[in-house]
Amino acid sequence: MLGSVALAVVAAASGVVASPLELIKRTSPGTGTNNGFYYSFWTDGGGSVNYNNGDRGSYDVTWSNVNNFVAGKGWNPGAARSISYNGTWNGASVNSYLSVYGWTRNPLIEYYIVEAFGTYNPSTGASKLGTVVSDGGTYDIYRTQRVNQPSIEGTSTFYQFWSVRQQHRVGGTVTVGNHFNAWSQSGLTLGTHDYQILATEGYQSSGSARIEVFDGSTGGGGDTTPAPGDGGGGGGGSGGCSVAKWGQCGGQGFTGCTTCESGSSCQAASQWYSQCL
Ligand SMILES: *[C@@H]1O[C@H](CO)[C@@H](O)[C@H](O)[C@H]1NC(C)=O
Repeated sequence: MLGSVALAVVAAASGVVASPLELIKRTSPGTGTNNGFYYSFWTDGGGSVNYNNGDRGSYDVTWSNVNNFVAGKGWNPGAARSISYNGTWNGASVNSYLSVYGWTRNPLIEYYIVEAFGTYNPSTGASKLGTVVSDGGTYDIYRTQRVNQPSIEGTSTFYQFWSVRQQHRVGGTVTVGNHFNAWSQSGLTLGTHDYQILATEGYQSSGSARIEVFDGSTGGGGDTTPAPGDGGGGGGGSGGCSVAKWGQCGGQGFTGCTTCESGSSCQAASQWYSQCL
């Protein structure tokens, strides 16, 4: 009995100590760099959002009764890079999106490559302009317009470009260039790249996510992936190459390296896409 009382006191005391530390750790809304990654944390102020930058390219976010927030880590400027990510997203049963998300200027465009969405499909009401098959899935392409809404240039009227993955997933590689090319072929022209993040968004909902992002073009976690054309080849020969975990290692039409770094193995997600897991 005394022991459990003592434990309770310790727990209460550490709770008191933990909260100021939490407050110091918590990231304020805004943008910046953390561990070499760019981050953006935007909220319109409704409800509460607790966003924290974590190790490497990781972040966690918990939101409660928000009106609208978008937050995540990535790069500035954005590019046609391969973006790998993993983690957990507790947004499937609420109004939330998990996306590669970015902006361009001239023209001002807000774009989304949606990997998973919850109760609301962001393309509801928009007409489909086409599809793009990439990274083991099929994405539907849309354009919507925002009139007098928040943007990186203040309140503006601008287009949003969308690729919305039919087969929702949380984790994998997004070959962003495939989407940029498909959008361009559908007449959707991006401008000069501003930031590009692996974003969690919530709208009139509560949820949480913990996500880590890697530049799949250069390998995750400091590992290196050979340049396209190095080694590999159809026969599965290694040629001394190595694909970082989460990177692509096979699939119909794939001509890159097919050997995974040690600790991971090449696993087929579909006929189009195999990944080092
Ligand atoms: C992503 O995967 C790495 C390597 O397995 C792991 O160390 C890390 O914790 C994962 N990140 C998240 C957010 O789950």
